[in-house]
Amino acid sequence: MRRFLNVLVFTLVLAAVAPAFAQHKHGAGHEAAQHQSHRFDDPQAWAKAFDDPKRAEWQKPDEVVKALALKPDMKVVDLGAGTGYFAVRLARELPAGVVYAIDLEPKMVAYLAERAKALALPNMKALRGSATSANLPEPVDLVLLVNVFHHIDGRSSYFRNIAKSLKSGGRIAIIETTPEAPAGPPRAMRMSATQVEAEMKAAGYSRKQRLDFLPQQSFQIFQLVDR
Ligand SMILES: C[S@@+](CC[C@H](N)C(=O)[O-])C[C@H]1O[C@@H](n2cnc3c(N)ncnc32)[C@H](O)[C@@H]1O
Repeated sequence: MRRFLNVLVFTLVLAAVAPAFAQHKHGAGHEAAQHQSHRFDDPQAWAKAFDDPKRAEWQKPDEVVKALALKPDMKVVDLGAGTGYFAVRLARELPAGVVYAIDLEPKMVAYLAERAKALALPNMKALRGSATSANLPEPVDLVLLVNVFHHIDGRSSYFRNIAKSLKSGGRIAIIETTPEAPAGPPRAMRMSATQVEAEMKAAGYSRKQRLDFLPQQSFQIFQLVDR
């Protein structure tokens, strides 16, 4: 009986967690609306996908960080940081600077704070953003969004708001899964580089760089037009 109960509990837990992985790993069978509003409220489960060492094969994190041309004292935001895949790497590149690892989900924020503590990265600070504002605590040099842009509602006003917290010459780097990628969010939620650029233009930014080395994602860097 005890064995039967153990199997039952295991099966129920698996049934609850598996679709979340399937969605990001295979991008199948999910409605766009569900995806945009779904919760990232189980950091331990998401960490298995987000921090899977195999991700480096297509995410190329070292190349991404290099392309961001950081200076050691910069103030950088990882917006929608998730479990901190990029925030941790950014913090290591900024010994005299700071990384604000911002997420909407309180449990992700708690996970990020724990991870910064466990890795002895006092310059990685976990903060909570809201659905309408990133809640940046001070002017910053760079905001990075990796697979987050499509989750944000009201993007025009959201990014106009962020403009108030960008230092002179400040940049926004956006990495988004392309419509053609073999895996990722549901296809209806994906955005081409052209769509991302058009939305950022409407919010007052111009594209300064387009990098083409990621096989599954577009990678673009924007600055405010009037700076
Ligand atoms: C697909 S995950 C990407 C996580 C991380 N950037 C990475 O590449 O591993 C999207 C993350 O964005 C967060 N998110 C969604 N909407 C957000 C918003 N408006 N503000 C801040 N975070 C948001 C989610 O909670 C989730 O952790």
